[in-house]
Amino acid sequence: MTLTIAIANQKGGVGKTTTAINLGAALGALERRVLLVDCDPQGNATRGLGVRAPSPHLYHVLSGEVPLATAVLPSGFPNLDLVSSHRDLVGVEVEFVGQSGWEGRLREVLAPVAGGYDTILLDCPPSLGHLTVGALAAADGVLVPLQCEYFALEGVSELLTTVRRIQSGINRRLTISGILLTMYDDRTNLSRDVAE
Ligand SMILES: Nc1ncnc2c1ncn2[C@@H]1O[C@H](COP(=O)(O)OP(=O)(O)OP(=O)(O)O)[C@@H](O)[C@H]1O
Ligand SMILES: [Mg+2]
Repeated sequence: MTLTIAIANQKGGVGKTTTAINLGAALGALERRVLLVDCDPQGNATRGLGVRAPSPHLYHVLSGEVPLATAVLPSGFPNLDLVSSHRDLVGVEVEFVGQSGWEGRLREVLAPVAGGYDTILLDCPPSLGHLTVGALAAADGVLVPLQCEYFALEGVSELLTTVRRIQSGINRRLTISGILLTMYDDRTNLSRDVAE
């Protein structure tokens, strides 16, 4: 059984990509077969794994130009593969909207390769736009990195509302895998308050 986890929080810089790369590398070291799909046009997971100027990338897959299998790259870490991103992925937001069933597109393209992996990690962009909705529609669980800083909780209720909408519509099997506290510093009251 393949477990697909979206790593999402529309707040920027909370550690989504750092979590995706490290969780992917750690699961790979434990001999799980992992596919990390970079769903963010910023391409930080792609560059974080040392991949530059990738082609084909997720845009080519979502637009139907190539099957996902041809866009899978080795990451250099054991058992961790990557589907890379590129700033062209921004085009998804404008090009696919209005097409019926666009939310299910990522789920559809992942289906043929899913059996080859134990875990698929979807690194989401810092927005609740179409790429994040597509990732939540494709996922079994959503992991929410939450930075232990002053405005941490801002936006979380909006994210949870989006998750509930998706649960009651396009993806009933979606669960909340967890809230992951990032950049936690036990020595500060602020970190402890956020955790509380
Ligand atoms: N546990 C940590 N301790 C210290 N710094 C961290 C930690 N996790 C992430 N960072 C740093 O915080 C910054 C933001 O992290 P990251 O890019 O993973 O966040 P993100 O949520 O993916 O950002 P974006 O919303 O832009 O995609 C990076 O500079 C990263 O190195
Ligand atoms: Mg990121």
